[in-house]
Amino acid sequence: MAEDEQRQQLLCEAATNGDSKKLQTLIASGADVTYFNKDGFTPLMLAAKNGHADIVKTLIDAGAPWNALSPSNLSAGDFAMDLGHQDAFDILLNTGIQAELILGTIARKENKVGDLDKDYLEDRVSFSEDKIMDANSKAVMMAWEKPLMEAHAKAVCSGGGHVLNVGFGMGLVDTAIQQYGPVTHTIVEAHPEVYKRMCASGWADKENVKIVFGRWQDVLPQLGTYDGIFFDTYGEYYEDLREFHQHLPTLLKPGGIYSFFNGLCGGNAFFHVVYCQLVSLELESLGYSTQLIPLPVKDCLGEEVWEGVKHKYWQLDTYYLPVCQSLEESE
Ligand SMILES: C[S@@+](CC[C@H](N)C(=O)[O-])C[C@H]1O[C@@H](n2cnc3c(N)ncnc32)[C@H](O)[C@@H]1O
Repeated sequence: MAEDEQRQQLLCEAATNGDSKKLQTLIASGADVTYFNKDGFTPLMLAAKNGHADIVKTLIDAGAPWNALSPSNLSAGDFAMDLGHQDAFDILLNTGIQAELILGTIARKENKVGDLDKDYLEDRVSFSEDKIMDANSKAVMMAWEKPLMEAHAKAVCSGGGHVLNVGFGMGLVDTAIQQYGPVTHTIVEAHPEVYKRMCASGWADKENVKIVFGRWQDVLPQLGTYDGIFFDTYGEYYEDLREFHQHLPTLLKPGGIYSFFNGLCGGNAFFHVVYCQLVSLELESLGYSTQLIPLPVKDCLGEEVWEGVKHKYWQLDTYYLPVCQSLEESE
């Protein structure tokens, strides 16, 4: 066996057994902390699986990627979380949050935020009973989300008054909002076909409804202040959500409730936790507290739901519904 390969195997063994001294010697002699063994595991995953928090820390400090995935799409954080290794989990969670905070800052500085949204808005969409699909067979919105949308509507309508929803989709959240009889109900929608369809189905004729056609980024000056706000767009990045949050102090009345579709990293449980924490921290810096209410979704999500859908954007058993309000009000 080549010397390099042998060194890598010894590194994996040290990570598995928690042999800190040996691990440090191997790293000092040039062992590669980004290595994947024949089963597709990195030394960091092996250390996390076995709950060796000190080894996890050493590997992270030596540059091991916290977000590498095993063949079954699990990261070191997933292993620590699933097996209840709290110390290792905490180190990986903090590493993930720090990394994403830094990457976000760099991307914003270099203006490297993508332009997915514009492509989606220029393409055709197709409507069926249980979903809206984009031109690439990805789901824009799906009916399985109905109970979630109802729960979001309940949260943002809890104070009554004036309600804003960004992103109409299938109108599920708007239908639920209407049931609470808000004084006014403003809907922002940017896709021409979705807009046409919502008008054709009578939304523009409802007495308390105001439809604002356009990208939320472009129509902000047409908006007012609201007691409840819900945000759920498609084809946008985390950075767009983050940018929307910068406008909350202008859009949300004191004492108002804000919520958003929390599909952040919906394909991986650990990354989802990282992003739930990240978004809560960023909202806190703007003066908002975030409560994440767990809702089980396993029962409304059979495999058949995803037939013909290219990207399975949600794969977790629990949905965490965010309820945000100003820190002063929540104290
Ligand atoms: C996931 S769907 C919303 C689903 C909706 N919550 C429901 O209950 O049916 C996202 C919607 O946001 C719209 N959208 C995408 N980007 C937007 C933007 N920048 N401004 C406003 N609407 C946008 C899409 O056209 C789509 O109708």
